[in-house]
Amino acid sequence: MKILAIESSCDETAVAVTDERHIISSIVATQIEEHKLYGGVVPEIASRRHSESIVSVVNEALSTANCELGDIDAIAVTYAPGLIGSLLVGVNFAKGLALSTGKPIIPVHHLRSHIAANYIDNVDLKPPFLCLVVSGGHSHIVEVKDYTDYSIIGHTHDDAAGECFDKAARALGMPYPGGVHLDKIADSGNPDLFKLPYPKIDGCPYDFSFSGLKTAVINAIHNAEQKGEKVNSADVAAALRQRVCDMLISSTLKAAEDLGYQTVVMSGGVSANSELRKRMSDECKKRGITLYYPELKYCGDNAAMVGVQAYYEHISGNIAGADLNAFATMPIDVLNY
Ligand code: KG4
Ligand code: ZN
Repeated sequence: MKILAIESSCDETAVAVTDERHIISSIVATQIEEHKLYGGVVPEIASRRHSESIVSVVNEALSTANCELGDIDAIAVTYAPGLIGSLLVGVNFAKGLALSTGKPIIPVHHLRSHIAANYIDNVDLKPPFLCLVVSGGHSHIVEVKDYTDYSIIGHTHDDAAGECFDKAARALGMPYPGGVHLDKIADSGNPDLFKLPYPKIDGCPYDFSFSGLKTAVINAIHNAEQKGEKVNSADVAAALRQRVCDMLISSTLKAAEDLGYQTVVMSGGVSANSELRKRMSDECKKRGITLYYPELKYCGDNAAMVGVQAYYEHISGNIAGADLNAFATMPIDVLNY
């Protein structure tokens, strides 16, 4: 089943042609350079850039796949959650394509697609499994009971892990999005020199809180500045990366143990973090748990993962009508379109 998949939930206009779990083409047009000027995504600029580039990205995805619209069986699109103006560009474009070609339209939840990024290269992976979903906007521990059946068992009470990395990186003078820069510079730092709290939430062992960590880093930088000193960026980055990994790994593995999962999966932009990948692999090996995470190019936003999840949504009968809307927020375990 050939699917043309569209993703425009944040600052990447992405289009892919997929066939079940196989990726025929995957094009990502990023707006990062422009948002860098402002230190973060400017929603109105993001939607305007999606409007400008969506036609050419769709054409490029089709031509790279050696396809025409007539070869496509269904149109898939991210409809929630994300920046509403950005989502609406993708949703309305997908509806136009579906209406003019008579093809079905498959609405895909953004976090479901992040999880599905794991199906691309891991041919043997199938639910049930436990998934840590960590991106710029979300930090969840999710039971994936089946391809379209989820239950959230842990979540952040404030910031997402990616947001904490990005804000700390920004305070350290790194460009947006700072997570990847902070990850690189942390390699040359000593994680034990800079003391950070270990935020825990009483009675909620699978939940997270990252805003205190972010504030601790920002305050330390400002306090040093007031004394005419400068913090060592590499040491701060190494300490923050280590602490975020401590939290993500311990909660995920506790949940896996408590719920009896032998398969653990990571997804979302933060699953590209080098320390998270390495330490989670080591810890899973020690416990005899099988770990999966996506190839780096499928950790961040892309449309290949949307097409793969759409295949399973289609099997479950999740097809939208011409009244499909976009939503800025939507839990992963709810279907509402
Ligand atoms: O999944 P994603 O591309 O977009 C959202 O759905 O939010 O995630 C983006 C997030 C950003 O916060 C970015 O800084 C973070 O993923 N990220 C990283 C790394 N690469 C991307 N965080 C830590 N280490 C990385 N290597
Ligand atoms: Zn994302």
